[in-house]
Amino acid sequence: MKKIAKTEIGKFSYFFPCQATIVTSHYKGKDNAMAVAWHMPLSGDPPLYAVGIAPSKYSHGMITGSGQFGVNFMPFNHAELVAATGGPSGKCLDKFDAFMLAKDPPLITDVPILSAAYVAFECILEDSHVHGDHTLFIGRVVAVHQAPEAFNEKGQLDMKRVQPVLYMGSDRYVKINRYDINLFDRKTAADNLIGKKNNDG
Ligand SMILES: Cc1cc2nc3c(=O)[nH]c(=O)nc-3n(C[C@H](O)[C@H](O)[C@H](O)COP(=O)(O)O)c2cc1C
Repeated sequence: MKKIAKTEIGKFSYFFPCQATIVTSHYKGKDNAMAVAWHMPLSGDPPLYAVGIAPSKYSHGMITGSGQFGVNFMPFNHAELVAATGGPSGKCLDKFDAFMLAKDPPLITDVPILSAAYVAFECILEDSHVHGDHTLFIGRVVAVHQAPEAFNEKGQLDMKRVQPVLYMGSDRYVKINRYDINLFDRKTAADNLIGKKNNDG
């Protein structure tokens, strides 16, 4: 594709879509939930998961204070709930009460696990770094809560049963209604492209 190159970056939203999650926290007897699209796995062994949260968010203080957070992956039929937790601040509103959020008990931490999530991680804060206008909270995953019906025997999400909440920015959400799984064996793919180059050359 022919691209226009520029150095004035401006609104930096070209990377969407991202999966939108709900990050939960518990501090001084209070629960909170916020929508988070900036998150990623950092390490398989030990299992580390990172979330990017702006210092102005109420959750930021709760995670810093408690040293814990939860990451809840929601099915698309709860996309409106994801959006709702990304609006008002937990400083002014008890989102668990206002949105009637049902929760399951955590195994290790005190963070609420959302009953509607198809999978949720309990994380203990290992480290945090401020980068620009967000803080990267790095958590060790100490417990996983997983709905067995959402995954196949290999532990892969079965999107015929559960559609993830994909976020496109600017309040736009994508539901995956139809999809094709394409299997590209990585060695065969590399050999194919090298063979094509040799044939073309
Ligand atoms: C889909 C979606 C994704 C969001 N992702 C992030 C994010 O990754 N990091 C962040 O700091 N805020 C993000 N936000 C904004 C917060 O969720 C929002 O400001 C929320 O009200 C903060 O809640 P709190 O103040 O109770 O912590 C997102 C909002 C939406 C709707």
